Amino acid sequence: MIINLKKEQEERIQELEEKFPNIFLNNDIISDFKNNPYTNYLLYIIEDKIVGFINYYLIYDRMEIVNFNVLEFFQNKHIGSKLLEELIRVANQNKLFNITLEVRSDNKKAIYLYNKYGFKQVAIRKNYYIDVDGILMEKELM
Ligand SMILES: CC(C)(COP(=O)(O)OP(=O)(O)OC[C@H]1O[C@@H](n2cnc3c(N)ncnc32)[C@H](O)[C@@H]1OP(=O)(O)O)[C@@H](O)C(=O)NCCC(=O)NCCS
Repeated sequence: MIINLKKEQEERIQELEEKFPNIFLNNDIISDFKNNPYTNYLLYIIEDKIVGFINYYLIYDRMEIVNFNVLEFFQNKHIGSKLLEELIRVANQNKLFNITLEVRSDNKKAIYLYNKYGFKQVAIRKNYYIDVDGILMEKELM
């Protein structure tokens, strides 16, 4: 099941921060909701537990993927694919112009997945991650 996190769902926010401590510090998500009107989180839930999420910004007619993660134990079971499909469905529903993201050039799995869903490389940011390039990708919609 995929749900759209609401800022009132404090227990879910806490669970998300605890499940992904390398990404979130305590209260990161609450302050993101407070300070950023464009932020959204899609959560993938199995047996009432969060196993993956996508954080994206929906800014007028564009969407940007900020964070995309599935717990290691649940990877390669098409949970990431389902999250991306839902994201693209939301983007189409909102008649958006495009979806963009940035990925490390050595992240072969993520790049494979983005290609699978029609994202194309549009720019390279040389050594963006110190010794690894960043790849800017875009999926055009409409
Ligand atoms: C990237 C990530 C979100 C994908 O989620 P996932 O649930 O594992 O992905 P899925 O199971 O839907 O799809 C994985 C696909 O990649 C393929 N794959 C697996 N390892 C691969 C590799 N090393 N190189 C290329 N493709 C690979 C799988 O065969 C599968 O292909 P298929 O859809 O044709 O069957 C997840 O692996 C993750 O959290 N990674 C760490 C964080 C990260 O890198 N996030 C992205 C930042 S931009």
